[in-house]
Amino acid sequence: MVPSGLLPGACQTSLISLLLVCCLLLPGAQGQQFPLRVEPQDPVVPTGGSLLVNCTTNCPHAELLTLETSLIKKPVGNGMGWTAFQLSGVTGDSQVLCSGYCNGSQVTGSSSITVYGVPERVELAPLPEWLPVGENFTLRCRVEGGAPRTNLTVVLLRGEEELSRQPAVGEPAEVTATVRAGRDDHGASFSCRTELDLRPRGLGLFLNSSAPRQLQTFALTMPLLDVSPLLEVETSWSVDCILTGLFPASEAQVQVALGDQMLNATVESHGDNLTATATATASAEQEGTRQIVCNVTLGGDSRETRKNVTIYSFLGPILNLSEPTAPEGTTVTVTCAAGAQVQVTLDGISSAGPGQLAQLQLNATEEDDRRSFFCNATLRVDGGIFHRNRSVQLRVLYRNPIAVSIGMGVLVILGLVMIFAALAYVFGMKKRSDSYHVNQGSTWLPLTSKQPNEDVGEEPS
Ligand SMILES: *[C@@H]1O[C@H](CO)[C@@H](O)[C@H](O)[C@H]1NC(C)=O
Ligand SMILES: *[C@@H]1O[C@H](CO)[C@@H](O)[C@H](O)[C@H]1NC(C)=O
Ligand SMILES: *[C@@H]1O[C@H](CO)[C@@H](O)[C@H](O)[C@H]1NC(C)=O
Ligand SMILES: *[C@@H]1O[C@H](CO)[C@@H](O)[C@H](O)[C@H]1NC(C)=O
Ligand SMILES: *[C@@H]1O[C@H](CO)[C@@H](O)[C@H](O)[C@H]1NC(C)=O
Ligand SMILES: *[C@@H]1O[C@H](CO)[C@@H](O)[C@H](O)[C@H]1NC(C)=O
Ligand SMILES: *[C@@H]1O[C@H](CO)[C@@H](O)[C@H](O)[C@H]1NC(C)=O
Ligand SMILES: *[C@@H]1O[C@H](CO)[C@@H](O)[C@H](O)[C@H]1NC(C)=O
Ligand SMILES: *[C@@H]1O[C@H](CO)[C@@H](O)[C@H](O)[C@H]1NC(C)=O
Repeated sequence: MVPSGLLPGACQTSLISLLLVCCLLLPGAQGQQFPLRVEPQDPVVPTGGSLLVNCTTNCPHAELLTLETSLIKKPVGNGMGWTAFQLSGVTGDSQVLCSGYCNGSQVTGSSSITVYGVPERVELAPLPEWLPVGENFTLRCRVEGGAPRTNLTVVLLRGEEELSRQPAVGEPAEVTATVRAGRDDHGASFSCRTELDLRPRGLGLFLNSSAPRQLQTFALTMPLLDVSPLLEVETSWSVDCILTGLFPASEAQVQVALGDQMLNATVESHGDNLTATATATASAEQEGTRQIVCNVTLGGDSRETRKNVTIYSFLGPILNLSEPTAPEGTTVTVTCAAGAQVQVTLDGISSAGPGQLAQLQLNATEEDDRRSFFCNATLRVDGGIFHRNRSVQLRVLYRNPIAVSIGMGVLVILGLVMIFAALAYVFGMKKRSDSYHVNQGSTWLPLTSKQPNEDVGEEPS
């Protein structure tokens, strides 16, 4: 047995030994009757160990028994047909040869010493802390030492699952396997194990493992921003940042900002999908074109989506009457004003330009009482047109003094008339009741009243 991983020195020794065996075997045909045995035959010893080698023969007249070896040897005894040596510092595989003479013929015997030892170092190369799902990565295991190499196997593992099994070749031996990162690999523990199988030699199976290495995998997608492109100052509006196919969604960090102002986002997740909702109120200083930013960070990587928004302010319209309640004949000024970019139209009269006011004047008349004035404000921003309106009502005071005196006069006359009528009525009643009383007490009045009765009585007869 010539193991492939022998050191140059050991190689030379075995070559010399083999040559010796060939040269010495040819003439000694008679000697083979009593072969010279080397005990133990082809032993396997731990690296650096020592070994007792016994050259023994049944030849009755064996002479000059000796052991040829490159190893340090120490005679430990001899007897009839045997001589023993203690070999020490067995660090590599080697061949030992016993030789001697039997009845004048040279006799030889050989044995192969195999050393065994577990690797001094088994190490799995560091893995990236985070790896995108779908990306390939390489597991690289480095094995230093370990013998016999023909019986040494390197196994790459995910948890307990074998990913690859390869022989250890070279010093140090390096074994690699390419793995496609999956979601299953998130949090998985990878390791490397060496197996020195000496069970057929009756020594058992020696396992050595590397320290495990953890991997975290992730999937990151571009955020989607849902926000109105036109936002009014001092009003609340919401920004939705939608993320789909995130893994592991629970570890994603989402940030929503308006320009460089962070917004307070509420994050809701449903499986791999995540929605960050922020409510924002822009201040007057933020008027103009701004950017809404949604930024997601996961696995040391980040994705960002920006969207331009126009923040506008729409003040007004403010519709004013110089006098809300005006006496008839006074001059009333109606004014409509609004913010800097706003165009106003007051009862069809447009302002000269945005930010200018619209005005109209009138001499209050009776017809203007309860007249409504309507102001329409229009703001144009980045393709958006907004309208707002306001209306105001004018009250006019109109019972001028002449009308009042006529009215008063009429009332006085009416009052007098009523008083006279009442007096006349009361006096009339009194007169009639007086005559009645007189009537009852007198004799002459019934006479006068009887006269027509007589006439009536005469006519039918
Ligand atoms: C060597 O072998 C012989 C014969 O088998 C035996 O008698 C002797 O004790 C052995 N010597 C040692 C040191 O084991
Ligand atoms: C990943 O490795 C597999 C083989 O293991 C190969 O077929 C594939 O093309 C590799 N993918 C990338 C992105 O390198
Ligand atoms: C150990 O190595 C020897 C020599 O190469 C070989 O014959 C044997 O099958 C190996 N045993 C194992 C378990 O690998
Ligand atoms: C953000 O929201 C949290 C809880 O909803 C609240 O306690 C905090 O005051 C808010 N911060 C700001 C700046 O609005
Ligand atoms: C995302 O936000 C974080 C925190 O504000 C910041 O550190 C990071 O640079 C941002 N990423 C990008 C791509 O802008
Ligand atoms: C509107 O009237 C108020 C008082 O009534 C006055 O303070 C304000 O300046 C007026 N605005 C305009 C635009 O005339
Ligand atoms: C209002 O009346 C005055 C005089 O009474 C007149 O000079 C002015 O032109 C009138 N204004 C309007 C708007 O009619
Ligand atoms: C307001 O003015 C705009 C243009 O100036 C016009 O298109 C719109 O119809 C007006 N609205 C009303 C209610 O008058
Ligand atoms: C004036 O604005 C109100 C809302 O503020 C709206 O309901 C109404 O229709 C508008 N009127 C006109 C005439 O545009």
